[in-house]
Amino acid sequence: MSLRKKLIAGNWKMNKTSADAASLAEEIVAAVGKTTDVDIVVCPPFTSLDAVGKALEGSSIKLGAQNMHPEASGAYTGEISAAMLRSLFAGYVILGHSERRTYFKETDAFINQKTLAALKSELKPILCVGETLAERESGDTLKVVQTQTEQGLEGVSKEQITSVVIAYEPVWAIGTGKVATTEQAQEVHAFIRSLLVKLYGEALAQKVRILYGGSMKPANAPELLAQKDIDGGLIGGAALEARSFVDLIKSAAVAG
Ligand code: 13P
Repeated sequence: MSLRKKLIAGNWKMNKTSADAASLAEEIVAAVGKTTDVDIVVCPPFTSLDAVGKALEGSSIKLGAQNMHPEASGAYTGEISAAMLRSLFAGYVILGHSERRTYFKETDAFINQKTLAALKSELKPILCVGETLAERESGDTLKVVQTQTEQGLEGVSKEQITSVVIAYEPVWAIGTGKVATTEQAQEVHAFIRSLLVKLYGEALAQKVRILYGGSMKPANAPELLAQKDIDGGLIGGAALEARSFVDLIKSAAVAG
């Protein structure tokens, strides 16, 4: 029996109106809303958080956001604070997704500020790390993952670390249909675990969940989820349809 309960999180990215998002949430609740052997999180766009939160009421499925600003309030046009997310009953927030690093030039230092602000507001960060294809091909995968992990977690205390979820998402595998091999994924997950051991000690490091993300689908999930250090998935495309998302949850339950 693993120390870590598997976690399946859906990142809906910039998809679905509020009404469509609520329908998808209702379908997921109908299929797996009472599941307790796997933690389930759905992360719709900000505009659907309220409607999806209502659809999830009374279920075991948790609500998450896809981003936030580190400041509590102020003149940051277009931004959303941790307290705003908490007021809509979000429990998780995805931070440092590669799409935000690439398209919005988010730095490790800025992502770290968000991580600390999320924890202060009792939001669980899902901190994303991962290398590009060029970085993998030049042999820099572990170096990139180390920098992103260490800088993202700077100042996170021993008391806080078990509230953090890390998601390893190789950029070249996101939305491309190119999934990392189980060996490639497990190697990086074990490496991230070893970094956590150095920073927080063995006992705490064993409690932190490390998710895999990047073209995870019902067909490839069982093998990935069976790896020692793969504690769940952060799912994009396959989370937009109830049937495939539910199949992934079932795979996680089997993998235990
Ligand atoms: P895909 O599952 O569509 O590859 O997306 C993964 C991802 O970016 C989740 O955050």
